[in-house]
Amino acid sequence: TAGPDLAGRHVVVSAGGTREPLDPVRFLGNRSSGKQGYALARTAAARGARVTLIEANTGLPDPAGVDVVRVGTAVQLREALLKAAPDADVVVMAAAVADFRPETYATGKIKKKDGQDPEPIVLVRNPDILAEMAADRPRPEQLVVGFAAETDDVLANGRAKLARKGCDLLVVNEVGERKTFGSEENEAVVLGADGSETAVPYGPKEALADTVWDLVVDRLG
Ligand code: C5P
Repeated sequence: TAGPDLAGRHVVVSAGGTREPLDPVRFLGNRSSGKQGYALARTAAARGARVTLIEANTGLPDPAGVDVVRVGTAVQLREALLKAAPDADVVVMAAAVADFRPETYATGKIKKKDGQDPEPIVLVRNPDILAEMAADRPRPEQLVVGFAAETDDVLANGRAKLARKGCDLLVVNEVGERKTFGSEENEAVVLGADGSETAVPYGPKEALADTVWDLVVDRLG
């Protein structure tokens, strides 16, 4: 394994999946387990970094030696990132962020009414946090890393997404029926804005995390 090649660096990692509330008891969510983000936080700490982990709804125990910030929604995740990012050398957005949230929040539980059709749920866009972090960097030399789950044309879609988001590295997963979510293993290609392409074979999420940090270390000034 690598030595303390992230010593003196501050890295910020987001993990988990946001939940967008409809009422006090219901939300729109996703199947992200947070395990890949936690693996990134643990491996960065093992390589000497100061780590801020912003976690959304994972239920996972705090990794040793890591500052953990808990959030629920995409808007809260954005606030926590904006607070943590100013002195960060690297921001890694491993969290699955809801693209949309319900337009309104019912302060009381939504009830079914006899003989009436349900009200439609109207959605509004959430901010694209990754694109925003990449566009407005508090330090010009800060690196921004994103994740993308794709089901088809993985590399072409990944390249287009990397360009659209403006990040330095994009970790592209192929997702499908049995793949990635909740699993201890992962398989990915890490695309670089410099045109690099690093295939990471199926294996533990720690191994993918270490490859991401290797590529980050190569790119840090
Ligand atoms: O566009 P897509 O959701 O595929 O992009 C995934 C990447 O963008 C992840 O790194 C995720 O954390 C980030 N993202 C974000 N804000 C959103 C949606 C996704 O930061 N609203």
